[in-house]
Amino acid sequence: MSDQINIEYKETEKEAELFDKIIQLKKEKNAIILAHFYQEPVIQKIADFVGDSLGLSQQAEKTEADVIVFAGVHFMGETAKIINPAKKVIIPDLDASCSLAESCPTDTFKKFIDQHPDHIVITYINCSAEIKALSDIVCTSSNAEKVIESVPKDKPIIFAPDKNLGNYLNEKTGRNMLLWDGVCIVHEAFAVDKIIQLYNDHPEAKFIAHPESNPEILKIASYIGSTSGMINHVKESPFEQFIVATEAGILYQMQKEVPNKTLIPAPVEEDNTCACSECAFMKMNTLEKLYLCLKNESPEINVPLKIREEAIIPIKRMLALSN
Ligand code: 13P
Ligand code: SF4
Repeated sequence: MSDQINIEYKETEKEAELFDKIIQLKKEKNAIILAHFYQEPVIQKIADFVGDSLGLSQQAEKTEADVIVFAGVHFMGETAKIINPAKKVIIPDLDASCSLAESCPTDTFKKFIDQHPDHIVITYINCSAEIKALSDIVCTSSNAEKVIESVPKDKPIIFAPDKNLGNYLNEKTGRNMLLWDGVCIVHEAFAVDKIIQLYNDHPEAKFIAHPESNPEILKIASYIGSTSGMINHVKESPFEQFIVATEAGILYQMQKEVPNKTLIPAPVEEDNTCACSECAFMKMNTLEKLYLCLKNESPEINVPLKIREEAIIPIKRMLALSN
C-alpha cells in the first residue's frame, strides 16, 4: 500500500442534494459557513471560508452575515460569538469539544493564576470562554510568538493550556513561561519511530509539524507552524514531498493547493483509537448535521454577558496584534 494519500473529493448524490438545500438555506437566512481545515472534505467543500483558528476569528469579526454556521469545535463557535455577539452562531454538534479546552477547568486555573498574581496570562485560543475571561491576551499558533513578544521581557508569563506549544514557544522566544499541563490528544499520538522509518523510506521528503506535537516530534521537523502556516510552507517550498504531522483533514486543502506534490500523513501510535491522526471532536460534524443546524438554527452558541465582556478584551488584543 502506498503511504501517500490522494485527496480528490467527489460528493455522493445524497451529499449533492444536501449541498443544494444548504445553498438555498444560506441565501434565505443570510448565513455564512466557516470551517476549520480539520473538517471533513465535504464540509470544507461547501464552506464559504476554510481556515485556521486565527483566520476563522478574523472572518467571524468582519462578516456581514446574520447567521454564522461554525463547522469546527465548541471553543471556536464560542470565540465567534464573543467577537460578534449580534450574530447568531450555530454549530453542527454542540458536543464537539477539544482535549486542550477540557484540560483547563475554570476553578483550578483560577487558583493557579491567583498563586502567581505578578504573571501575565496568555492563553491559546483552544480554551473555554471562561478561561479567556481570566486571560490578559489570547493567541493562536499563527500569532503566538508575536503575542509573547508584545509582553515586556521582564514580565513573567503563564501560558495555557498547551504545554507542547508552550515549550516550543519558550525555546523560540527565550522566555521561561510557566506552563499549564494540557495536551492535544491528536498531536500527542504521533509516533516518532514510525515517522523516522517513513522518512527512511522517503528520503526526499521534508517533515513538517504542528507545534501542538511532542518535543521529540518537533525536534526532527524541518518546518513548524499553524495549519495555514503549514499549507503556505508546502506551497512556497521548492521541495516536492512532505510528511505532514497534524490532523489529517488538512490534507484535503493542502493537496488542492499543491496538486502535483506528494503529501504523506505522519503515522500515529498503534494503540491510538484511530489509525490516522483524526480529531474525533472535529469529526463529530457531518454534512447532515450541518444541514440540520442551518435549517433549525440550532444548536446555538450562547455566552453569558459577563463572560463575553471579559473574554472580548484579550481576544481583541490578539486581533489588534494580528492585523
Ligand atoms: P490552527 O488551525 O490555528 O493551527 O489550530 C490547530 C488546532 O488544533 C485547532 O484545534
Ligand atoms: Fe482540540 Fe486537538 Fe482536536 Fe484541535 S485537534 S480540536 S487541539 S483535540
